[in-house]
Amino acid sequence: MHHRLSALAALRISDPEQKVAATHAAAARAAAGPIAPDALAGTAHDDGVPGRPARPVRVAATAVPQRSPFTDEGRAALVHSICHIEFNAINLALDAVWRFSGMPEAYYHDWWRVANEEAQHFTLLHAHLRSMGWQYGDFPAHDGLWTMCEKTKHDVVARMALVPRTLEARGLDATPLIQAKLTRIGTPDARAASAILDIILRDEVGHVAIGNHWYRWLCHRDGLDPIAHYRVLYRRHDAPRLRAPFNFEARARAGFTDEEMATLAQPC
Ligand SMILES: [Fe+2]
Repeated sequence: MHHRLSALAALRISDPEQKVAATHAAAARAAAGPIAPDALAGTAHDDGVPGRPARPVRVAATAVPQRSPFTDEGRAALVHSICHIEFNAINLALDAVWRFSGMPEAYYHDWWRVANEEAQHFTLLHAHLRSMGWQYGDFPAHDGLWTMCEKTKHDVVARMALVPRTLEARGLDATPLIQAKLTRIGTPDARAASAILDIILRDEVGHVAIGNHWYRWLCHRDGLDPIAHYRVLYRRHDAPRLRAPFNFEARARAGFTDEEMATLAQPC
């Protein structure tokens, strides 16, 4: 099967474990050969995209109950929320492979690598959640990541600007704060969750870097100023406001320039 059709096939799978297995298998096949950038005839529709299980129940971000992570259930809800982000992240990486034609081959290889690592992250967190006595689907979850995928499905420049280097970059900022909280809690399961977040943070720097690389490549191709055009896209798609504290060290490693980091907290 065409490597990008394999991404669409994995994207449509609703069972999380089957999606993970299909993603790993197809990513390994894609890494071993060339990937054609041509338009995929007959797939210009979103039937069954994204495949996702009936649970978790999807609610507005403001409707997700706040639970104290100092309780077992609260920590499970916290791990579940990150597990849900990783499930969405598998889908958005597969979507980046499948949906956008005409990009250089390296673009598709990059996003297959991201999909593969997001599948690993989901597996690590889901195994941990199960060890705590819960499983994926047991808590309600919100849908911010996929909503931004939908909004940017007709514009790869907007997708690169607003999903990896805006929404996923917020994960770089948030992860150390979550880890500090888990360290304060100090239970064995909290320490184990923090160790998984070390792996995730390391990999997410690479994912945001891929977003930055392709955003800049596209701006150069299209004669756009990356900073000025980011403001246009941010307003056009109503991206969420970024909030301090920022993880400047991780953001610098992910390729944000000093000029971009100086303007992070300013309203666009
Ligand atoms: Fe991830």
